[in-house]
Amino acid sequence: MHVLSAAQQNATRIIQDEHENLSAVVHGMRYFIRAIDQGKKAPDPRVFHAMLFYLDGYPERVHHPKEDRYLFARLRHRTSELDITLAELEFQHAQGAGLVRGIQHALARFELAGASAFPPLRKLVEEYALFQIAHMRLEEDIVLTGAARFLTQEDWIAIDAGFSGIHDPLTGALIKNDFAKLFSLIIDIAPGTGSMEKTSD
Ligand SMILES: [Fe+2]
Ligand SMILES: [Fe+2]
Repeated sequence: MHVLSAAQQNATRIIQDEHENLSAVVHGMRYFIRAIDQGKKAPDPRVFHAMLFYLDGYPERVHHPKEDRYLFARLRHRTSELDITLAELEFQHAQGAGLVRGIQHALARFELAGASAFPPLRKLVEEYALFQIAHMRLEEDIVLTGAARFLTQEDWIAIDAGFSGIHDPLTGALIKNDFAKLFSLIIDIAPGTGSMEKTSD
């Protein structure tokens, strides 16, 4: 049986934790939209803005660069078996910010125009949620499984150091802490973001 090293366990856990944080905010945003759709009392729109701010910045500045730089690069070095999947995931990394911007614009239109501007907002949020959930699932099912097969102990030590932030300059650590604070704020005030609360799909 393949025994996981401490570095592999730790790096894998960090990636999964970061995915859980992203999922929580994505589910919260979806909850928000569905509450409006069902005519329930909508949460404070400032929460929605905070979620979008998080989804715009955290993947772009914290999570995706680490995946590209440490995990994907090491995997490419060890095997070509995952090249197509890695290229697709990198393409999706580049798409994410544009999708969030689309939601920001649709939210602004909804705030100005009201109910008639709601359907495009709902559509973009649902599409983004499916996009982001499928992206993380692909990483966990294909990339982490492949990583467990192909990467060496030396690779895992480097990936663990990269994901733990050991190589981060001070500013990198500060950015991470800022997003951690923003995440706690969102979780404290937004319904639908609790880890026990899952949507059906
Ligand atoms: Fe990713
Ligand atoms: Fe990821």
